[in-house]
Amino acid sequence: MSDLFEPYAFSRIRMRNRFVRSATVNNLTNEENRFTPAHRKLYTDLAKGGVGLIIGGVYRPKREWFVGHTFQQPCLDVAGIEEEMRALVEEIHWLGAAFVSQICPPFQINGKQVSGSAMDVNLVPEPLDERDIAEIKAAYRNAGRVLSSAGCDGVQLHCCHNDVLSRTISPFFNLRQDQYGGSPANRARLVLELVQELKKGAANDFPVLIKMNASDFRENCMTVDDAAEIASILATGGICAIEPSCGGAGASFTPSGPIVKEDWHEGYLIQYAARIKEAVDVPVMVVGGMRDLKMMEEVVETGKGDLVSMCRPFIREPDLINRWISGDVSPSKCISCDGCLKETMKRRKLRCVQVTRADGTPKEG
Ligand SMILES: Cc1cc2nc3c(=O)[nH]c(=O)nc-3n(C[C@H](O)[C@H](O)[C@H](O)COP(=O)(O)O)c2cc1C
Ligand code: SF4
Repeated sequence: MSDLFEPYAFSRIRMRNRFVRSATVNNLTNEENRFTPAHRKLYTDLAKGGVGLIIGGVYRPKREWFVGHTFQQPCLDVAGIEEEMRALVEEIHWLGAAFVSQICPPFQINGKQVSGSAMDVNLVPEPLDERDIAEIKAAYRNAGRVLSSAGCDGVQLHCCHNDVLSRTISPFFNLRQDQYGGSPANRARLVLELVQELKKGAANDFPVLIKMNASDFRENCMTVDDAAEIASILATGGICAIEPSCGGAGASFTPSGPIVKEDWHEGYLIQYAARIKEAVDVPVMVVGGMRDLKMMEEVVETGKGDLVSMCRPFIREPDLINRWISGDVSPSKCISCDGCLKETMKRRKLRCVQVTRADGTPKEG
């Protein structure tokens, strides 16, 4: 067994191995954006399946920011959510996994749309004003308090895929003339202020991770070198781990890979993660088309990344890591068809379309 299966620690987080489950929307909340038994089962199955760190979510700091949004996710300002989350986290810990909650910035705030989801290609969002920023800071501070009190091992900032934070760090999207625009330090400012708010709500040593675009994959967009500069500023400013991602509205890449399927290849973000890793002293999680154990081992052995992160492979096989531990080291059965993503974009519950029929009955994998 390689290093991937050995315990790993960073900041306050202790992992039983180096495998991370990347954040994945699931549409498994109820009408009030609270947890359901199905939501709980999703995570306990992952924990039983052997993964080291589960990144849960995406969770929302404030419910009203997402009214009408495609994805149905838990909201951290809903009464009772803290207790529900504490029960879930306790069970995940008991099953041996660490749990970090991903949180995302507003989709709409104070009557305006401020960022697109991956689907809103033609949307031109409005910039955040002082009132918006103050509201976001207060909501993130509360999110830090809720997550820490619920026993989460940390929080991951969603700063990718065309959300308002990924637009803020990008020289392509950020056209501001004030202290939040221009130089890399200015473009990193809002994220760093949110790190401080989260820590104010939780504790100074509460681990704050980030999933950030390593490239916008648009013409004249944020390049990997721009991203490496921002990553270095963020790591110095309190971010304890980085998961480089990519793309967003109008880009040639979606988070799940190139738009042109023929261009898709395994480990399509490895070289981007390796470039970010050169710029920072914190662990880098390599995500994006990681399917083959040998390739993952090579990534860690050659120092291109520290942790291996996967999304779709765990939708298809929540027990993938235990399968590998048991000696069956054949690659993930996920064929990267994106059927699961399409389901969630239709507001349906997360599922692998290759292993279940529409009526929910099992089909041969
Ligand atoms: C169904 C689905 C839901 C996703 N939800 C999120 C999310 O909530 N937050 C996020 O940062 N990325 C999300 N992603 C992107 C994944 O976390 C991951 O970065 C991407 O799918 C590439 O990894 P993979 O090849 O292992 O799937 C989602 C992807 C899929 C397919
Ligand atoms: S639906 Fe397709 S992409 Fe999603 S988990 Fe199943 S095989 Fe993988």
